[in-house]
Amino acid sequence: MGKHINTYLYGFLLAALISSSCDDGRIYDEPIQVEREGGSVRLTAQLSGQDHWASGYSIVLAGFSDDSEYAKTAKGITSGHDGTVDITLTGIPNEVNQIEICAINRLRKRIVSFYTYDYTEQEDTIRINAGAINASMYNSIQTNVFDRSCTSCHGGSTSAAAGLYLTSGRSYDALINVIADKSDSGMYFVTPCQSEESFLHLVLNTDITANWSMDHIDMVTSHDLLQLIDDWIDNGANEN
Ligand code: HEC
Repeated sequence: MGKHINTYLYGFLLAALISSSCDDGRIYDEPIQVEREGGSVRLTAQLSGQDHWASGYSIVLAGFSDDSEYAKTAKGITSGHDGTVDITLTGIPNEVNQIEICAINRLRKRIVSFYTYDYTEQEDTIRINAGAINASMYNSIQTNVFDRSCTSCHGGSTSAAAGLYLTSGRSYDALINVIADKSDSGMYFVTPCQSEESFLHLVLNTDITANWSMDHIDMVTSHDLLQLIDDWIDNGANEN
């Protein structure tokens, strides 16, 4: 009971802190800890793409328990100019059984994950080498949206529905400032900085596809992922 109240309290403090100070997407200089006990993890990795996230998101090394998508503890990942990461997360609470490199939002909710480590052993200090990771906003969308929900029809096999390739390596050039055939008003699939003027947004968030040969409205149901796409567009629709 006491623990829960603590967790909520930290959430509110954090939200207040962030709304008043930060808009570069980097939120945590110090680890946010619910408890002071626990083990540590030292992470080495080669990270790219983490610098162009929209505000409100943070790329962190974080600990989760099975029952929650909210980080129990998290530390912002900073890297050298060549992308080299070497950081240590300490004081990991006992209930944590998964360590992740992930993007969290202002409420510390996991939005996308880049790397997962099973933390059930809980030795004193665990060393993780995560290797090379593309942690860009666009790669998150490619992996968590296009690869999962779109490429089965849009280019993953021999053909692409409506001629639209959403496969890795092709999707970006197919979307940015490209006129959508199905748009009556000649909209681009993605107009950087204008999510609501982007056909991709309309296809995923409105009923304009209701009388197409394929209704798209329920293809992405996660509010967080729909928000991620909009935020990516409004933040300039960077590729890296
Ligand atoms: C089950 C197959 C299928 C899946 C999965 C699918 N689509 Fe489609 N998509 C189609 C078909 C078929 C059309 C063409 C519909 C028509 O012409 O009536 C289309 C058309 C489109 C168009 C309009 C293309 C144009 O040229 O204007 C967009 C944008 C689009 N899809 C995006 C997506 C996205 C994003 C996803 C994943 C979230 C997705 N689709 C998943 C079948 C699919």
